[in-house]
Amino acid sequence: MARTPIIAGNWKMNKTPDEAVAFVRELTPKLRPHANVERVVAPTFLALASVAAELKDSPVKLAAQDGHWDASGAYTSQVSVSMLRPYVDYIIIGHSECRAYLNETDANVNLKAKAILDSGRKPIIAVGESLAQNEAGETVSFVRSQVSAALVGISPAQMGDVVIAYEPIWAIGTGKSASGELAEGIIKTAVRETVEDLYGGDIAKAMRIQYGGSVKPGNMEEYMAQPNIDGALVGGASLDVEDFAALVEIAARVKGP
Ligand code: 13P
Repeated sequence: MARTPIIAGNWKMNKTPDEAVAFVRELTPKLRPHANVERVVAPTFLALASVAAELKDSPVKLAAQDGHWDASGAYTSQVSVSMLRPYVDYIIIGHSECRAYLNETDANVNLKAKAILDSGRKPIIAVGESLAQNEAGETVSFVRSQVSAALVGISPAQMGDVVIAYEPIWAIGTGKSASGELAEGIIKTAVRETVEDLYGGDIAKAMRIQYGGSVKPGNMEEYMAQPNIDGALVGGASLDVEDFAALVEIAARVKGP
């Protein structure tokens, strides 16, 4: 079964609601309607409602950058999955910036993943090792542990809605990207094979796995040419309309219909 590639723009803390709406208004006509690629943008919480209204009837889907598992409560600064549900198809969780700056733990990622799936939405679960772990040769064991921890209690039936993004921390926003071959190796052995161990070959083969970390139009083809890489989670380059549209075009061309 062919996996539909998914290109997601993680805008991080960029673009006001007005800027976000202007961006998608400019982007949508540049995306060919027949390209068999899922395209997703993830603005800040503040811009979700206005971008959702702008994207009504558009093939571009919306993601949030986080979501709390409880529906409501005393969690200053947080927005719950159930509050996000009317606006988004996807919710990014486990991003290394949230793990580093907001104390997001593997246990929290798992609670969020379950809440997202239970609400009928799809998690994009980010995993990835630090430079020190990479240099110590711990990448595969660390990424395997992140993947396993994120998926505790998720049923085989729910796995069809799970996307995992492998983002080596040392490649995020640094301009230093993993080679296509290196990313393919980690994605295959640390992500897809972990899912295979947990859920079996069919579910592992059907699951989509993105690469993230300094993805640009200039290196996109190298990633998309890898058999186990099903798209990209993009930071910096997703803030530029031309670059984002180019990334989608490259994925459509290289991955085929
Ligand atoms: P960059 O593409 O800016 O390296 O960011 C990657 C990322 O963190 C996407 O979630």
